[in-house]
Amino acid sequence: MSDAKALFGGGVAVITGAGAGIGAGLARHAALELGMTVVLADVDTAAIAALRAELEAAGARAVDVACDVRDPGALERLAERTVTEVGPVRLLVNNAGVEQFGYLWDTPVANWERLVSINVNGVFHGIRAFLPRMLAEAGRSWVWNLSSIGGVSAAPLQAPYIMSKHAVLALTECLHQEVELAGHAGHVHVQAVLPGAVASDIFESAGAVEDGDIAAAEEHREAMLKVKAQAMDPLDAARVFFDQAAAGEFYLTSQPFVVDAMAARADTLAHRRAPVLLQGEFTVPAE
Ligand SMILES: NC(=O)c1ccc[n+]([C@@H]2O[C@H](COP(=O)([O-])OP(=O)(O)OC[C@H]3O[C@@H](n4cnc5c(N)ncnc54)[C@H](O)[C@@H]3O)[C@@H](O)[C@H]2O)c1
Repeated sequence: MSDAKALFGGGVAVITGAGAGIGAGLARHAALELGMTVVLADVDTAAIAALRAELEAAGARAVDVACDVRDPGALERLAERTVTEVGPVRLLVNNAGVEQFGYLWDTPVANWERLVSINVNGVFHGIRAFLPRMLAEAGRSWVWNLSSIGGVSAAPLQAPYIMSKHAVLALTECLHQEVELAGHAGHVHVQAVLPGAVASDIFESAGAVEDGDIAAAEEHREAMLKVKAQAMDPLDAARVFFDQAAAGEFYLTSQPFVVDAMAARADTLAHRRAPVLLQGEFTVPAE
């Protein structure tokens, strides 16, 4: 039996944003390969209903729950329903996230506020709802927050997103310390997930720009969509994340170039270098 199956098998995984991309890949791997019961939470109720039916047809256990991570009450209801109707949470994945393209000064205020409320506030609401319950349970449990390679990088034309992923990474590092400070090291495990390029719907559904340099925003979307063609399969990413989590890593990284970006970030800061403008074609390095 793999280490991941030994640790996670038979437990309950709650995944926000489970209707597509990375969240759906995590749910499929958790349910089909590890034998977890998965709680699929998303605003896209059709997507999570279809995924639940797919998993149940394959003999797995799954529940779909409509949940908007912007709403603290929705996370509280999700946590209560999970614990009372499904079982104690072995793994919480605060995964739901959205992108936004365009110059920062062109970004509609509503898009900024929506992105922050999903990518940052959503993670906080998940932690507030689930952590007290996980800390109170005798069994070990895991919390994964979705940062990104963008959480250790600077890049133009997606500043709100990059900012949100730095925020999630910092929040997760602080949470890791707080769980230890509160005496729960080895009991509740906090881990930061940093995908590099994983095939998903995030660039198609990214927010746009209504005024200003619309062309720059859409050209950037096109460049990022080309990255999708070279991106990792979400099921492969899920396997990597579960294996690294089971090995006790804190930073769960999908591809080696994410670790290169972490090293580059550390070097930039250590040498007090100004951010270098990245331009042109984005490519996924061969491994
Ligand atoms: N795909 C990548 O290469 C990549 C890289 C780095 C980080 N990430 C991060 O991974 C996470 C998942 O992204 P993805 O690429 O799979 O995106 P995706 O667009 O394929 O899936 C995101 C899911 O979140 C759901 N969602 C959106 N708003 C929501 C809300 N308010 N409440 C609940 N659910 C909501 C969507 O309906 C969708 O099912 C995000 O946090 C993203 O920033 C992805």
